[in-house]
Amino acid sequence: MSTEIYYFSGTGNSLHVAKELQKRLPDTDLIPMLGLVDNEIIIAKGTSIGFVFPHYASTLPKIVRTFVNKLNVESAEYLFAIVTRGGTETMAFLETDKILKGKGRRLDSFYAITMPSGSEPLVKGYATRITKERILRLESKMLERLDSIHKTILAREISRIRDTGDGNRPPSYMVPFLPLLRLITPLLVPLGKLVESSFDFYHDKKCTGCGLCEEVCLADRIRMEDRFPVWQDTIKCHGCFACLNFCPLESIQIKSKFYLKSYTSQNGRYHHPNITAKEIAAQKKVSSIK
Ligand SMILES: Cc1cc2nc3c(=O)[nH]c(=O)nc-3n(C[C@H](O)[C@H](O)[C@H](O)COP(=O)(O)O)c2cc1C
Ligand code: SF4
Ligand code: SF4
Repeated sequence: MSTEIYYFSGTGNSLHVAKELQKRLPDTDLIPMLGLVDNEIIIAKGTSIGFVFPHYASTLPKIVRTFVNKLNVESAEYLFAIVTRGGTETMAFLETDKILKGKGRRLDSFYAITMPSGSEPLVKGYATRITKERILRLESKMLERLDSIHKTILAREISRIRDTGDGNRPPSYMVPFLPLLRLITPLLVPLGKLVESSFDFYHDKKCTGCGLCEEVCLADRIRMEDRFPVWQDTIKCHGCFACLNFCPLESIQIKSKFYLKSYTSQNGRYHHPNITAKEIAAQKKVSSIK
């Protein structure tokens, strides 16, 4: 019995969760989706196959959608997914199921895990939400959940409990909107599909031209030109926020758009403390399954 965990991660939460899960499962390979997604055919080899990825605006990232679509899962006797998210309800499992249905399959188990969010620098009040205490608390909750999740996966049990968001502690500004959000979440899926290409990045005066953003960019969209990063308009963004959150000088900002005011210039940054920019960038390098 072998397990393959396919992952995608911009700010390190999903990669960290995938690594922690790997430690708990025997004979398990961690495989980045990104390095394989451009292959015409991708054939999984594991008898147990898992997907670990972030939730973006109600659904799954486009790159994950494309990957799952392409993946041949005939070897799998068991399929599972873990989504990491900032706290709102996710439609990602239903959407993954829709793709798998075309292959005559569905997820046998799925789990949403709340983590500190790498999209928070956009939002007002970052400092009161992304605190050291919250990071530690969510980390220990996540590890506790993995201790039970891995047993379900090992026993190949069915566990399909619909996600209803992280009811524990939504940010106070969200509370009045929660009932409405629950109602409209399924309707947000088409909007979620657009979100990744909707951000305008720029670097401010703090930029030293170190080039880390170019290295970490999961879409290879950032090119250093005259010593400074330029986000290429012709290349589609994954919206992963790796550039925003790994820039060591917090020099990368997002321009406000009509529907979303950006507070990146006033806020700090978040990436998972155990995950390095090198590990994020390494997702681009794997191009075959062992
Ligand atoms: C473009 C984008 C959109 C996001 N949308 C949501 C959202 O609607 N609800 C939520 O709870 N978290 C949202 N998040 C937060 C991520 O789901 C969360 O930070 C996740 O753990 C990131 O995983 P990663 O570190 O592996 O990239 C969003 C993050 C990004 C970058
Ligand atoms: S990582 Fe930050 S400091 Fe380095 S080149 Fe990019 S924007 Fe400039
Ligand atoms: S530009 Fe930034 S958000 Fe877009 S793919 Fe590159 S690292 Fe991710």
